[in-house]
Amino acid sequence: MPLIHYVAADGTRSSLDIEDGTSVMQGAVFNGVEGIVGECGGNAMCATCHVYVDERDLDRLEAMDELENEMLDATARPRRVNSRLSCQIKVSAELEGLIVNMPDSQY
Ligand code: FES
Repeated sequence: MPLIHYVAADGTRSSLDIEDGTSVMQGAVFNGVEGIVGECGGNAMCATCHVYVDERDLDRLEAMDELENEMLDATARPRRVNSRLSCQIKVSAELEGLIVNMPDSQY
């Protein structure tokens, strides 16, 4: 189970072992990490799972698809080059140590 680091806007860090095959969003929601909502259940339809991926980790992620790219234009907080929808990031061994920074609000 890869270790994923969730960093809140105030700097609070939650480091959790997340099961392979679940999404980074599910890892947060299932473990009560505040800062990721996941309102649509992971269907890339709500953008309440917006995160800023640590820029050193960007190369380890799979490329985003068109739907994710469109939804990232509808986030509550500004889109940046390292913005991703955490429901579209599937946890695997390759993502060991991934750091995602959460915006201060998803609404
Ligand atoms: S959970 Fe809705 S877009 Fe990710």
